[in-house]
Amino acid sequence: MPCTQILGTGSYAPARVLTNQDLEQLVDTSDAWIRERTGIQERRQAAPDEATSDLAVQASRQALEMAGVAPEELDLIIVGTVTADMPMPSCAALVQAKLGARKAFAFDVSAACAGALYALSVADQFVRTGQVKRALVVGADVLSRAVDWSDRNTCVLFGDGAGALVLGAGAGPEDVAPRGILSTHLRTDGTLADILCIPAGGSRTPVTLDNVDANLHKLKMNGKEVFRFAVRSLVESTQTSLGSHGMTPGQVDHVIAHQANLRILEAVLERLEIPREKCWLNLHKYGNTSSASLPMSLDEAWRAGRIQRGDVIAMMAIGAGMAWGSAVVRW
Ligand code: ACO
Repeated sequence: MPCTQILGTGSYAPARVLTNQDLEQLVDTSDAWIRERTGIQERRQAAPDEATSDLAVQASRQALEMAGVAPEELDLIIVGTVTADMPMPSCAALVQAKLGARKAFAFDVSAACAGALYALSVADQFVRTGQVKRALVVGADVLSRAVDWSDRNTCVLFGDGAGALVLGAGAGPEDVAPRGILSTHLRTDGTLADILCIPAGGSRTPVTLDNVDANLHKLKMNGKEVFRFAVRSLVESTQTSLGSHGMTPGQVDHVIAHQANLRILEAVLERLEIPREKCWLNLHKYGNTSSASLPMSLDEAWRAGRIQRGDVIAMMAIGAGMAWGSAVVRW
């Protein structure tokens, strides 16, 4: 069965830049602390009239243009997001309408910062089995609306953005070394739901005046626990993915990773013995854009001419759930 191909990529970051110095005005923090502990210098923030589907559509149009695919040709749209425009309908349904992708069925996946990787994996199954020919995968989040701007432990980390990938069936028959998405590996550990969550806004703790007063509708995080778990699980997942193809980290040409914290990425790369130069880094200018960060990174790396045909890419992402995974792609 031919591998699913990535035909086009796109990304979008809102125009408003929020620097570390801006945050010094909001909470008791410093540019030096944020740079040293996270690697982040600035992040983008959606305009008041911009919602997640608006960012998603911008990135999607770019990806469709690069792929040479018209919206009407799409069969499937999956958006990885935890900040959909509203609880229902899905963000994907709104994206489908705005793009005019009339024949596509559309749905969201909820895997927080691993959302785009989960969406990619699901879309890959549909394309690989021949059920759909053209799929659009989007990672988009406006976490600035979910962050507690009085909590210095979290508000310095996140930014808004969107990334998109257009997938299509491989032309087959495969040559000796197949190209495209070789495999994806997903994992979840729901026993860790508490270490990164937004407690209110669902059926357990609905939005009420009391819950809003208690800030329960805002993101809560145990940063140290997330850090430790992220390093361990991203290393294991990537080793498993590569191992399933008889590959070692030494054979990886590029790492395209969810950008949560520079120190997490450095620790992962060190344990995998992959040189840092092989990992596309953009969190200094965008912060942690949640589900958007992986497709945004791939888009930037490709447009920068970094990735060549035949290169092996290791993708990895982790987010609330905890939900994490990896993918191996030969370009
Ligand atoms: N500015 C200044 N001081 C701060 C700030 C801040 N923004 N935030 C926390 N501090 C203080 C803490 O209060 C603490 O002070 P104390 O010692 O007086 O109690 C001190 O700095 C050290 O705090 P730590 O939590 O030990 O700092 P650490 O080095 O662990 O860094 C961080 C914190 C950056 C949150 C880190 O734990 C981290 O990145 N964790 C991963 C979180 C993450 O990536 N989440 C994203 C979502 S999930 C994902 O994408 C994987």
